[in-house]
Amino acid sequence: MAKKKLNKNWLHDHINDPYVKLAQKEGYRARAAYKLKEIDEEEKLIKPGQVIVDLGSTPGSWSQYARNKLAGLEGGGIRGTIIGLDMLPMDPIADVHFIQGDFREEDSLRQLEAILSGAVRHGAQPVRRSDFRCGAGRASYRSGN
Ligand SMILES: C[S@@+](CC[C@H](N)C(=O)[O-])C[C@H]1O[C@@H](n2cnc3c(N)ncnc32)[C@H](O)[C@@H]1O
Repeated sequence: MAKKKLNKNWLHDHINDPYVKLAQKEGYRARAAYKLKEIDEEEKLIKPGQVIVDLGSTPGSWSQYARNKLAGLEGGGIRGTIIGLDMLPMDPIADVHFIQGDFREEDSLRQLEAILSGAVRHGAQPVRRSDFRCGAGRASYRSGN
């Protein structure tokens, strides 16, 4: 199939995708928000008070979802800390820290540690280990510290 036709088919599917439509309606930057929502509803991962690091966060729909889950402080704001990190720029999200960099690089790690230590000083519980299952294919991904 010619490349032009493939692009046209992709565009048609994308425009008609129910999750793309829902994301537009609910203000999410990507349909990926609903993958995280599904995992979260099943595994009860995200709770107020947590420190959440979103590695590879751009365009930001996972950080937006996490932000919505931690919201609810009187007068606005969130209970917890969210840090997005990506090589690409990300448009700001209220209450979400953002580091632009490569998460394999020392400099990104240093910036991340600086925000994390500030969060712990302000009463956040250090996270000892997190388990995630990511992606539509339900590939298992585990990270620990
Ligand atoms: C599929 S997108 C993430 C979408 C995001 N979860 C959302 O819901 O909006 C993957 C992101 O990972 C970023 N990325 C890949 N490798 C990276 C690295 N080594 N350091 C930082 N960001 C990285 C890419 O730039 C890309 O923006």
